[in-house]
Amino acid sequence: MNKPAILFIHGFPFDREMWRPQFEWLLDWHCVAPNLRGAGTAVAPLSPDAYSMHTYAQDLIGVLDQQRIERVVVCGLSMGGYITFELLRQVPNRLRALVLCNTKSAADTSDGKRGRDALAEKARARGTSAVAEELVPKLLARQTREEHPDIVREVSEMIERQPVAGVVGALHALRDRPDSTPLLGRIQVPVLVIAGEDDQITPQAGMQEMAHAIPNAEFVIIGAAGHLTPVEQPGAVNAAIETFLEKLV
Ligand code: MLT
Repeated sequence: MNKPAILFIHGFPFDREMWRPQFEWLLDWHCVAPNLRGAGTAVAPLSPDAYSMHTYAQDLIGVLDQQRIERVVVCGLSMGGYITFELLRQVPNRLRALVLCNTKSAADTSDGKRGRDALAEKARARGTSAVAEELVPKLLARQTREEHPDIVREVSEMIERQPVAGVVGALHALRDRPDSTPLLGRIQVPVLVIAGEDDQITPQAGMQEMAHAIPNAEFVIIGAAGHLTPVEQPGAVNAAIETFLEKLV
């Protein structure tokens, strides 16, 4: 079989379950969707210093080594995209193609960094339900919020079940991540960039600009979706990913 394996990297503050509609659809492909450290059922180190884009990437390289996967298609959403950029720094030759969903290459602004610290403080003081309360309205498209209470509930519950240490650690990693913009022009593999029409966190205009800066990138906008395109519009996202993957074999 010459189909490459696909490594799905979830965003913040989620876990591998966010990719369920994709790995349950792509049954003919070898899909790997781990929980990052501090997410889902993975071990959550207590010190925020144990979390960085570098260590998340190191953990994922360990997963690939363990499964003897030499080259992989990486599909990352938002923070998963930031980690994909880190994999590009660390193991460029192991990447066969990339799917960048609802993400960006820039580092946090000073305001953004202050927001990370404030959210970490809130998580410590009031737990992950306060994090869900703050984030869910920003994560989902207006249409999803109005017409899909099931998705609102699913996303809220996913955030609420995350360990506080993992959420605080991820915020530390997000705050201190490097600018990956200089990498874009040097990406040599095929890339699919997926944006949400109503994404407030990584707006489609910025994502289109990012796609233009990558030599071999396709750009797709998913209608009636916010920041969580694979969860909000699984059918459209599955179709876009599958079409892209079929071209690789
Ligand atoms: C994510 O979905 O991973 C987050 O929105 C990333 C971020 O806050 O920068």
